[in-house]
Amino acid sequence: MNTDVILIVGSNGQLGTVLSQKLRQIYGDFNVFTSDLFQKINSEDNFITLDATDFNAIEEVVVKHKITQIYHLATILSAKGEQNPLGTWDLNMKTLLNVLEVSRLHNVKKVFFPSSIAVFGNNINKENTLQSSSLNPATVYGISKAAGENWVHYYYQKYGLDVRSLRYPGVIGYQSLPGGGTTDYAVDIYHKAVKNEDFECFLASKTTLPMMYMDDAIRATIELMEAPKENISIRTSYNIAGMSFNPEEIAFSIKEHYPNFKINYKPDFRQAIADSWPKNINDSDARNDWNWEPAYNLKAMTKIMIENLK
Ligand code: SER
Repeated sequence: MNTDVILIVGSNGQLGTVLSQKLRQIYGDFNVFTSDLFQKINSEDNFITLDATDFNAIEEVVVKHKITQIYHLATILSAKGEQNPLGTWDLNMKTLLNVLEVSRLHNVKKVFFPSSIAVFGNNINKENTLQSSSLNPATVYGISKAAGENWVHYYYQKYGLDVRSLRYPGVIGYQSLPGGGTTDYAVDIYHKAVKNEDFECFLASKTTLPMMYMDDAIRATIELMEAPKENISIRTSYNIAGMSFNPEEIAFSIKEHYPNFKINYKPDFRQAIADSWPKNINDSDARNDWNWEPAYNLKAMTKIMIENLK
């Protein structure tokens, strides 16, 4: 049997935590290696301490464990990235180029690269933002993702490396916390609500952004990676949509469970980042190419988040 052996780079993060578990269910515990800068307490077997800025370290892992697929999730997100633009560029690009180059040299069969709605910026239509909309990122995170999309396209064109990518919206789940993103408020708000605390929101009430429930994000990732190669027409990164809402709307959905829940608004520097992003995304290429269809709306997500965080 020809079983894939998977390496997840950045497995401690918001997505990595949940994706690792799912990939282990599918491919078997022993065929999935998780890796990050440090091991979390009570962490799993097959964890490798790995600094993805170190080319030789990644190469050693890939050769030693005969890795056939890499999910490269290590990144500095939009808000945190603005605190250190050059450091963010260095880390986001170096880790990606290391993964691509090691994959090319050692015949890794498939690579996953997460892009983001942050590749979009001002001067485009923010409603129903098309796959083909121009990329004018307003953050160093967005610039690194836009450049990353071009690099993965280059590695596909020039070397035939099968890299696949999604432009994730804000991802919301109960299993893990995001760190340093502009959409993080939509996770934090549930943690406050279940503790019967008020929530101070760093975005204004009407700031609508594309979002997605964790299960949809994980399923999209795996469906894309398992789709037949000939179906993948987008070799930069796919637009993908789940739902869109603003802080007032998520607060309203929480009030159905916690009628006394209160939100107040104190926009900070993240408001300008959010204002540069689309409100909602046209994902028709993902739907046409590999049958993408989201399953969760705001109401369903709120119910699950509250039940699990309570
Ligand atoms: N959730 C991410 C962020 O806010 C978007 O990719 O940075």
